Amino acid sequence: MDLASIGAIDGGGCARLALTDEDAAGRDLVVGWMHELGLTVTTDVIGNVIGTWDVGKGSPVMTGSHIDTVRTGGKYDGNLGVLAGLEIIETLQESSFVPTRPISVGIFTNEEGSRFAPDMLGSLVYVGGLAIEEALDIVGIDGARVGDELERIGYNGATPCPGFAPHAFVELHIEQGPVLEKTNVIIGAVTGVQGISWQEVTIIGQSNHAGTTPMSMRKDPSYVAAKIAVFLRDLADRYGGHQVCTVGKVDIFPNLINVIPAKAVMTLDVRNTDEGILKKAEKEITDFISSLSQSESVEISTRYLARFEPVVFHPQVIDIVEKVSVSHAPSVVRMPSGAGHDAQMFARVCPSAMVFVPSVEGISHNPAEFTAPEDLVMGTNILLQVLIELSQIEVFDS
Ligand code: GLV
Ligand code: MN
Ligand code: MN
Repeated sequence: MDLASIGAIDGGGCARLALTDEDAAGRDLVVGWMHELGLTVTTDVIGNVIGTWDVGKGSPVMTGSHIDTVRTGGKYDGNLGVLAGLEIIETLQESSFVPTRPISVGIFTNEEGSRFAPDMLGSLVYVGGLAIEEALDIVGIDGARVGDELERIGYNGATPCPGFAPHAFVELHIEQGPVLEKTNVIIGAVTGVQGISWQEVTIIGQSNHAGTTPMSMRKDPSYVAAKIAVFLRDLADRYGGHQVCTVGKVDIFPNLINVIPAKAVMTLDVRNTDEGILKKAEKEITDFISSLSQSESVEISTRYLARFEPVVFHPQVIDIVEKVSVSHAPSVVRMPSGAGHDAQMFARVCPSAMVFVPSVEGISHNPAEFTAPEDLVMGTNILLQVLIELSQIEVFDS
């Protein structure tokens, strides 16, 4: 709740877009808590903060998540995963329990991707999926550059990326969807994360008078943007299954009632658990856009903002999450994640998985996001036990 008071917005939510003053203030608060626990705290070149409890031997088991939010975010998305990690270390310290390996808690930069695309930027750079030079040069929706903003808020650290590969990585997160609540299940043992395709589409038409220009003579970007939005919705309905499509952002220029726009810029968020189906959806969208550009006499260009294939988590780690969850919770289900998460990046470098707790009414990326305190506690207890068990494993099954 203290963290949620930073960047608080109406309705009980948070606005801490990545690398803003609010993100910086949130980071300062949580880093202070890391120091109070006696953790060794490092900040790397993309601003990821890793707090490590230096006990035991060997490479650390790692947990964590993000504390940046979308502009209309809730209190729990990401924040739970970071604070649960600190709570676990505090609990173990208070009970004088010494784990077999060090435990690290990460705060990863710009997981949300709302200000700077791609999402999961910090963990992507951490695992070597994007060169730091490229990451620092990313320009956000407000024209700011990642490198400049990191420096401005004082989180341009010196620790190099890629970072060390942890022994294992497990992230606790709210589900952000309705599955657990609808089925009366308390814990999700997450099997993987669906593939994400983000594109920005720019449509250039001919700005003109809304009253005098005959319909047959128009080159209208807002009409074309609407057609694309409807096509995506229909595509998702046709495909069914895990296919989801969203047009979350449309900017029309000059955005006036009596002017046919000159330009529209829109975003497409297309996701599926199956890479083949995701590719098919992308091809259909590309073909539709090119046919529209012909039929409506507009210029359309597209660029990728993010593209991540579906990720399958490590079977042994999923088994441990499921086994521990069954011993704590009345009901547990294996499920894929619909949202992107830092754990999907760590899956590239170490055995990884996730624990989900329910989101009331499946609402997230919304100030009304809520998870019952007892579910937060249960998820955190499960994460504690999972980290202990993982730290005792010497070598994972390949
Ligand atoms: C990240 O929160 C996403 O959009 O899945
Ligand atoms: Mn999140
Ligand atoms: Mn989110």
